[in-house]
Amino acid sequence: MSAGTARRVEIAPSILPADFSKLGDELQTLEKAGADRIHWDVMDGVFVPNLTIGPDVVRSCRELVDTRFEAHLMVEDPDLLAPLFIAAGCDLVTIHAESTRHLDRSLGLVRDHGAAAAVTLNPATPLEAIDNVLHLVDMVLIMTVNPGFGGQAYIEAQERKVRRLRDMAEERGLEIDIEVDGGIGPTTIEAATRAGANVFVAGSAVFNDPEGPEHAIATLRGLAESAC
Ligand code: DX5
Ligand code: ZN
Repeated sequence: MSAGTARRVEIAPSILPADFSKLGDELQTLEKAGADRIHWDVMDGVFVPNLTIGPDVVRSCRELVDTRFEAHLMVEDPDLLAPLFIAAGCDLVTIHAESTRHLDRSLGLVRDHGAAAAVTLNPATPLEAIDNVLHLVDMVLIMTVNPGFGGQAYIEAQERKVRRLRDMAEERGLEIDIEVDGGIGPTTIEAATRAGANVFVAGSAVFNDPEGPEHAIATLRGLAESAC
């Protein structure tokens, strides 16, 4: 299998640009628009210079949609928070390799609490950081911006990391998803797909499309599927 081929394309809208005063409505709109999963950007104001939502917010929204929830933890203490987000209804939790001293243990903790485990790498972090835990994860998230804010420019140089990761996973016979997050939109999704990514977080591209989120998601999906 060549990079990305035949792997299911999934579009994961980030809730970051949503109107938080009507989050439930926003989630239902995203579900109707065809979102494959909802990407919760969890920021603690320490690991990244921004502060977003806690597990109670996720819990209060869980019953409103059937769409899968994933938590992207950008926090100093993922071992404390991962179980809380899983209990709140997240199906998958992704932990930054830079945020824990004991990545193997942290990923095990996520699985022990019944969620799929994933690991995230900041742009400056080399793939070697996850060489010894690749067999423990369902997904790797390669950041294509420095985390903390939506609306930033896509870092094209990360495509090399995505490509090497896809090769590494295939050499080891591992069926992992590769997600990219940051600056994903109609002008960047095809190159990210060709590099080997198959799950795409999109905030601005989904919320700012003048034709609405359904058009945005269908456009992104179409471009990724044809680039496979
Ligand atoms: C950045 C977040 C991303 C980001 C995506 O820290 O993890 O999910 O908000 O937003 P866009 O698509 O606007 O780059
Ligand atoms: Zn994110």
